[in-house]
Amino acid sequence: EEIILFRRKLSAWYRRHARVLPWRTTVEPYSTWLSEIMLQQTRVNAVIDHFNRFLKDFPTMLALALADEDAVLAAWSGLGYYRRARMLHRAAKFVVEEHEGELPSTAAELRRLPGIGEYTSSAIASIAFGECIAVVDGNVERVLLRIAGRPEDKSAAGRALITQQAQALVPARKPGDHNQAMMELGATVCLPRGPLCVVCPVYELCQTRGEHVTAPRKKLL
Ligand code: ADE
Repeated sequence: EEIILFRRKLSAWYRRHARVLPWRTTVEPYSTWLSEIMLQQTRVNAVIDHFNRFLKDFPTMLALALADEDAVLAAWSGLGYYRRARMLHRAAKFVVEEHEGELPSTAAELRRLPGIGEYTSSAIASIAFGECIAVVDGNVERVLLRIAGRPEDKSAAGRALITQQAQALVPARKPGDHNQAMMELGATVCLPRGPLCVVCPVYELCQTRGEHVTAPRKKLL
């Protein structure tokens, strides 16, 4: 079946090509959470050093909760969007006060924490806790729209369809790897301009394969 084939192709590709990133080597809810907050508006390459330094400064939820806000903001410096750091700090205090220092383990509960929306809650729940829930960010949306043969569809109906398909694709086993593989595919192969279709693991399942779908060179004619 197509879904099974898609998962198999994607996961084989991810095992071979996934970038080795510090938050992938040890999966621990606190560090997964930290990495996903840092990745919200910042590129992977810019996050790596900050992630390592931040974990050294604040190695646990308790250490973060007990820190001075100034120290947290200082550790964040260079990443920008400092509101994320303030919310991270607030969330740590809340988790220590209300959840005995343990992050909640479902996307629904995670969403109640400051700084965690739908996308981030799904990422943390699937990666750190194995919840079978799809992560749909801009990259994943583009990948799935292209596969479905409607690359320009920005409508509410298109979005609803993509959300539903994204969920249907998530396997019960290792949902976090699947979600990261989808994001990775969008970030490294299914690029906004000039997608690298020749190296795409799901080429034969894609309805727009080989078409350079999103970058019409307008001024040429
Ligand atoms: N962007 C946001 N979260 C990510 C992750 N876990 N892997 C790759 N890119 C991401």
